[in-house]
Amino acid sequence: MNDFAGRIAVVTGGGTGMGRELVRQLVAEGCNVAMCDVSASAMAETQLLCEAQRLPQGLRLTSHLADVSDAAQVERFRDEVEERQQTDRIHLLFNNAGIGGGGSMIANSREEWERTFNICWGGVYLCTRTFLPMMLRADAAHIVNTSSVNGFWASVGPRVSHTAYCAAKFAVKGFTEALMTDLRLHAPHIKCSVVMPGHIGTSIVANSRKIHSGTDSDSLSAAEIAQARQRAAAGGLEVTSMSDADIQNMVLERARQFLEDAPTTAADAATIILNGVKAGRWRILVGHDAHRIDELVRQSPEQAYELDFFEAFAGEVGWRLGTPTAPKPASPAS
Ligand SMILES: NC(=O)c1ccc[n+]([C@@H]2O[C@H](COP(=O)([O-])OP(=O)(O)OC[C@H]3O[C@@H](n4cnc5c(N)ncnc54)[C@H](O)[C@@H]3O)[C@@H](O)[C@H]2O)c1
Repeated sequence: MNDFAGRIAVVTGGGTGMGRELVRQLVAEGCNVAMCDVSASAMAETQLLCEAQRLPQGLRLTSHLADVSDAAQVERFRDEVEERQQTDRIHLLFNNAGIGGGGSMIANSREEWERTFNICWGGVYLCTRTFLPMMLRADAAHIVNTSSVNGFWASVGPRVSHTAYCAAKFAVKGFTEALMTDLRLHAPHIKCSVVMPGHIGTSIVANSRKIHSGTDSDSLSAAEIAQARQRAAAGGLEVTSMSDADIQNMVLERARQFLEDAPTTAADAATIILNGVKAGRWRILVGHDAHRIDELVRQSPEQAYELDFFEAFAGEVGWRLGTPTAPKPASPAS
């Protein structure tokens, strides 16, 4: 599919980050879009940004509150898409919604681990299954599943546990690769791609913390401060002399760095993804860091989880992820 004009796309997690940029760029190309998210205010912001760039005449952009890890909510989302987009078919499905967290089988709760896994993997599975009949009815369709470099390299460095996210992203990659053959055999008009971004500048760190803690606040609860302290200590940071305010600042600083110090912006990532779909590519690496880690893991798989391997890679591409963040001094008021 090399032209999105007049098509109908479903984008999960359209409220912020890469999802928002996908929605904006699809709309700019004249594609009708139905987005879902767990944040109504974030979707309202995406909608406003799209309207500010002027929606093409008659284009339908609809927002739907739905948690992709909940089968009943995904089915309701599908029903709403049929009604509000006035269609029984869609052409593009971007399974983009995802969160981090639940890194450790030991230090994190089962609930947190499964929340990350069920959104990052379960969401892709449920949305694919639920929207498949609408793609079977279309003349052409494309499923775009967002995995990560963590879909082929299960690490952000040897100082950080990352099990739930990596397990989910490997599942997304394996599922999408197997789906290629399944679609060729049973529905050859549907294609699929797996997207593997490196570090992209988004608010995923801050958003994930809020989703896990069930709050919209930037202030950490006592339990979150204790957990962040434990995680920093496990990563080799000296935390005994740090106050709770220092820990809070460290967490905010890490989220800020993730958003602002990334080698690739969310807008550039969305362009790379959409160009990859138009070019019919099934594997879409996003960012020079993603291309480089792909090469390195193939070159020396046995070394991939060693400190030397990580430090050489991080140094080469300028990654600061996976390295303990020294806290910024707490403000005098705190
Ligand atoms: N940012 C990166 O460096 C990076 C790297 C590799 C892969 N990814 C993946 O890219 C995708 C987009 O992430 P992003 O970085 O743009 O993050 P983001 O936090 O900016 O955007 C994710 C959106 O998904 C929404 N969301 C979260 N849980 C949801 C749920 N259960 N149901 C519906 N919506 C939900 C969030 O509210 C948010 O609007 C994710 O799958 C993420 O794992 C990100």
